[in-house]
Amino acid sequence: MADIHHFQLPALRAAIAEVVKGFGSSPTEVDLVTDNLLAANLTGHDSHGVGMLPRYTESFLEGGLKPNAHIETRIDHGALLGLDGHSGFGQVVGHETMLLGIERAKTHGSCIMALGNAHHLCRIGAWAEMAVAQDLIAIHFVSVLSRPVVSPWDGSDARFGTNPICIGIPVSGQPPVILDFATSVIAQGKARVAHNKGEALKPGQIIDDKGQPTTDPVFAVKAPMGALRTFGEHKGFGLALVCELLGGALANAMTLREYPTSRRVLNGMLTILIDPQKLSPGDHFGQESMAFIDWVKASPAMAGTEGVKIAGEPERQTRAERLVDGIPVDSNTWRDILLAAEKLDRDPQLIQRLAQGNQ
Ligand SMILES: NC(=O)c1ccc[n+]([C@@H]2O[C@H](COP(=O)([O-])OP(=O)(O)OC[C@H]3O[C@@H](n4cnc5c(N)ncnc54)[C@H](O)[C@@H]3O)[C@@H](O)[C@H]2O)c1
Repeated sequence: MADIHHFQLPALRAAIAEVVKGFGSSPTEVDLVTDNLLAANLTGHDSHGVGMLPRYTESFLEGGLKPNAHIETRIDHGALLGLDGHSGFGQVVGHETMLLGIERAKTHGSCIMALGNAHHLCRIGAWAEMAVAQDLIAIHFVSVLSRPVVSPWDGSDARFGTNPICIGIPVSGQPPVILDFATSVIAQGKARVAHNKGEALKPGQIIDDKGQPTTDPVFAVKAPMGALRTFGEHKGFGLALVCELLGGALANAMTLREYPTSRRVLNGMLTILIDPQKLSPGDHFGQESMAFIDWVKASPAMAGTEGVKIAGEPERQTRAERLVDGIPVDSNTWRDILLAAEKLDRDPQLIQRLAQGNQ
């Protein structure tokens, strides 16, 4: 078991911004990348938090990740946009895509955006949160263009990425619904976190390099590679397939059929934004959604559980806790971040001091 450091948010933010400066990023990019990674840690998704920096560093040093790149609008039909992320930080090109799409959806009532060639878009819920903050519904289908790590149902080797789906829905007078998950039974980063912590996965989550069931996360982390499985048996497999077709073939003009062998991780994302006010004037949608969620939450708690939670609630709860208790980072992940900082010509001792709250 690895040790766990607990860093307070302002100190960890200063330390991580110091690492991100090593990419040669503009001050705005440093802020967007740092805040997006920390927001993932705050919501409890450590798999998509600051522990991504070593991977981003490898990708950058190989020339796969292009700092200071911005979206280019290739197709513009008003409410239908085709965008190229030019291998820029997903934290930047994802942000720019959402700003553009939100503006169009406010004008037209809806907007469909196909973003291709974005470097890792990280926690997709962050993009849905931008839309619901503007009272829009957001639906995202995402493909992951990297080494395949997920097996198809009844298959015995990896043919997909972890292809996430995310749906954000604003609800009148209540926090939004943010449904956001990988179509693999766990996100790949969670296998990396388990491996770094020396923990086993649950049965049914992973197969080894021979296609046999195992609980060792190493088969999702390094060679010889096995594969994660999709959640929900054939149903998750169907969703993973649809993400590849919509986020990959449609938005990115590429699928995992011919994948790169580099450390780069590209996402393709098809996003559908809907203004519910324009489809449901008078807020019938808002009132009915609120009433339905109240009714669902009134279901008596099953023994041994905390009762019904609505998607997005666990993340808000974890965020509130971590803002007080600090953000846990296991010592293996922290060591890898300091090593990455060194490769980016940043001073690891300064980063260590910053993270501990000392200048
Ligand atoms: N950019 C990429 O390439 C990529 C790839 C895969 C995953 N991801 C991201 O990884 C993150 C983690 O994915 P995951 O599959 O591990 O998520 P997960 O299995 O933790 O599921 C998260 C979802 O389930 C909801 N949830 C959790 N517990 C619940 C409960 N008790 N009751 C009701 N709802 C509950 C959460 O609110 C959230 O919507 C996501 O943010 C996803 O976007 C990104």
